[in-house]
Amino acid sequence: MSARAQIGVTGLAVMGRNLARNFARNGFTVAVHNRSFGRTQSLVADHGHEGEFVASESLEDFVASLERPRKVIVMVQAGGPTDAVISSLVPLLEEGDIVIDAGNAHFPDTRRREAELKAHGLHFVGTGVSGGEEGALLGPSIMPGGSAESYEWLGPILEKIAAKVDGVPCCTYVGPDGAGHFVKMVHNGIEYADMQLIAEAYDLLKQGLGASAAQIGEIFAQWNSGDLESFLIEITAEVLAQVDVETGAAFVDVVLDRAEQKGTGRWTVQNALDLGVPITGIAEATFARALSGSVPQRAAAAGVLQGHAGQWDVTDREAFIEDVRLALYASKVVAYSQGFDQIAAASAEFGWDIDRGAMARIWRGGCIIRARFLDRITEAYERDEDLPLLLADEYFTGAVGNGVPAWRRVVSQAALNGVPTPAFSSSLAYYDGVRAQRLPANLIQAQRDYFGAHTYQRTDRPGTFHVQWTTDRTEVEA
Ligand code: 6PG
Repeated sequence: MSARAQIGVTGLAVMGRNLARNFARNGFTVAVHNRSFGRTQSLVADHGHEGEFVASESLEDFVASLERPRKVIVMVQAGGPTDAVISSLVPLLEEGDIVIDAGNAHFPDTRRREAELKAHGLHFVGTGVSGGEEGALLGPSIMPGGSAESYEWLGPILEKIAAKVDGVPCCTYVGPDGAGHFVKMVHNGIEYADMQLIAEAYDLLKQGLGASAAQIGEIFAQWNSGDLESFLIEITAEVLAQVDVETGAAFVDVVLDRAEQKGTGRWTVQNALDLGVPITGIAEATFARALSGSVPQRAAAAGVLQGHAGQWDVTDREAFIEDVRLALYASKVVAYSQGFDQIAAASAEFGWDIDRGAMARIWRGGCIIRARFLDRITEAYERDEDLPLLLADEYFTGAVGNGVPAWRRVVSQAALNGVPTPAFSSSLAYYDGVRAQRLPANLIQAQRDYFGAHTYQRTDRPGTFHVQWTTDRTEVEA
């Protein structure tokens, strides 16, 4: 077996298959392997004309067909299956070879694997790949972590197959060890918030206007020509226009209202709790999926919990639609602002030195959250790479600020009329919380000191204090 493949993919389910095809279409000789050889053979039979594949039945032959340093992409189920494939690969590889996990792995696993393989003289690269099956084939957004040395070998190959925006690849080196999978995880958290906010906007238009799915789809299609232009708004317009062939009803009207999740949103929220970053929009979106699946609680509540809800009385249809659009845009910016705060906090925690502007730049194309306003976010971090709060950037203070009256009208009308908008509402609460001159956390500190002697600080002088609540209630310096 001559070692002539520049890149190899093991695991040829749809994502692995499409990545392999993307590499071949871009002129690379691609080594391909799958546990069942039949799938490898069918890939070459169906797509061998697209480029140069080197098919191997055994993992040994697969590894032997790769030029040094070997670059092996593992595209199997996250968790145990990935560990199993890595364990089989390590004895076959030599110093300097590179193992790439392009699945949605949990970043602590990636950090562990990177350390383990480093001990064998190997590079381990956890990379986010976003854009689904189509993105893998036509150009995803790629977020590789791992060693800087590995990127010297991998970068040119990944950048060639990545999506391009203004000729710039949607791929860049993210940072050491688990940084790449971390950024992909936050991407997915933002994706959850984006999708929840769109769903709430759809619900508001449906309940506020009595609009049909098709009518709402037309509204989203119009929104997609403005500041909200994005992949998720675009596909929402398409989904809402879809008719169910069997019933002739609007497709969304026959879809069960229970949202599922593979886990990346959950990981994002769990990590934010650990880091102490208030990603309220992403958290509410993740919990909204859980609520929708809380069948026993929803069954117990239906028809029993009193609503005391008003009736929508929208007199100016166009004004209401514009209010919802402004509220959606403002809430989206909050979700992205929170996500980038989480990236900054993790970068400091793990010493990754992640460039947030570069992350916004590679999210402009290929990925699920690709959107026109990612250009504005990129520009914001180009103005100040240490920007403490995206919402406070000179562009967004205006772009979001202009929508605040509408945001308040939408959230208050939703509450008055009994329409659940957890992401819209929590995003507005975050906006008011982060800009507040004084929060009621002073009372929480006082309560904590009362029952737990947890001490507090004062506004008028430095130090840490405690009141002797159980005796003379005098204040002492702790
Ligand atoms: C992407 C997507 C993808 C995600 C699926 C399912 O960036 O291409 O985020 O990685 O896993 O969309 O996600 P959930 O099941 O968690 O919604």
